[in-house]
Amino acid sequence: MVENIIRNILKKYGLKEDKKRLEHIKSTLEFFNGLNEEQIERIILENYTIGESFFFRDGNLWNILKRYFLEDKNYKILSLGCSRGEEVYSLSFILNDLNKDYEILGVDASYERIIQAKEGKYKYWSVRKLNESQINKYFDKKGDYYFVKEKYKKNIEFKTENITSTIRKGGKYDIVFLRRVLIYFTEAQIHNILNNIKNILNNNGLLILGHGEFYPYLTELFEFEIDNNVVLWKNTTKTYNNRYKKLISFNKNNNIKNINNINNLQKPMEPNNKKKKLIDSIVNISEDEYLEIIEKLISEKNYVFAYNLIKKIADNSLNYLIWKYKAFLEIQLNLDYKDSLNKAIFLNPDDEELWNMKNYGR
Ligand SMILES: C[S@@+](CC[C@H](N)C(=O)[O-])C[C@H]1O[C@@H](n2cnc3c(N)ncnc32)[C@H](O)[C@@H]1O
Repeated sequence: MVENIIRNILKKYGLKEDKKRLEHIKSTLEFFNGLNEEQIERIILENYTIGESFFFRDGNLWNILKRYFLEDKNYKILSLGCSRGEEVYSLSFILNDLNKDYEILGVDASYERIIQAKEGKYKYWSVRKLNESQINKYFDKKGDYYFVKEKYKKNIEFKTENITSTIRKGGKYDIVFLRRVLIYFTEAQIHNILNNIKNILNNNGLLILGHGEFYPYLTELFEFEIDNNVVLWKNTTKTYNNRYKKLISFNKNNNIKNINNINNLQKPMEPNNKKKKLIDSIVNISEDEYLEIIEKLISEKNYVFAYNLIKKIADNSLNYLIWKYKAFLEIQLNLDYKDSLNKAIFLNPDDEELWNMKNYGR
């Protein structure tokens, strides 16, 4: 019964079911039994998602963004999953310093966090990355709390809302922030959300994800720019990977059983500098998450990208799947695959597919 209520609420907000977190919520609800549905929804939104954020998070990003605010216009910015407003006010600080006009909308599913965002009241933990002069400039300190100065609260609206409703409503934005929110969504929902964001971004508008966040589908919708390890996803009419799409369609029916068909393939083996930087920018993720991205790229037949990503982590890996995929990709790209295949077999001699792969080379 409680489990059904939880499931319905997760569904309503498009949140991915996570066994561990589901158990945690269930035990919290059992502890506070007798709650009505609205109270349960609140508890889920406060506890199922993590609201951690702080001012000027992702260091380099903010200096790089300053270079984008060059025009004399009213900048429209959307912050999805804005938590307690740290990201929204960080932007407001910068835009005020640059003397720019702006309107910022911050959206979060958590009612409590939006109340705090509106209040603009923070503990030291949120301002820890700021130096003393920044703290004095942007905040009034009262007791242990830091209050955002009124001047920086103008032209800002905060809303408790599900981000999927916000982006479906439309509008046109110059920048959409979506940092550390997609982790709660399933892959199909992520595709949906990214498509909707593309629709609400102005031409040349920017989508900003958290540092190190990457989803292969992004490259189908946006071009990217990289500066100091910061990736900005740009909404242009041109799609970045046309070249790779051609490769994919040429290679459509190719699988491991007919590797000889790919011998005529034109192979852009080394990614260009920009792509290399994108691969370098994918950080702070576990080997399993790398594997997920690589599997996804393989399923899309985006072999060059997958190969360059797997090369980045293979050297130190003792995971046979990494070596198996590397060998598979080397076969697809007509490269020497024996070393990778031998390593995969050494690590897991029970995988029959590996022995089949070995026989194809004969
Ligand atoms: C980890 S915080 C990220 C805060 C900020 N974007 C940052 O990177 O510092 C994630 C936020 O996303 C919000 N969130 C998760 N799913 C959401 C949804 N479906 N609709 C609105 N907000 C959501 C959570 O409530 C949480 O406050």
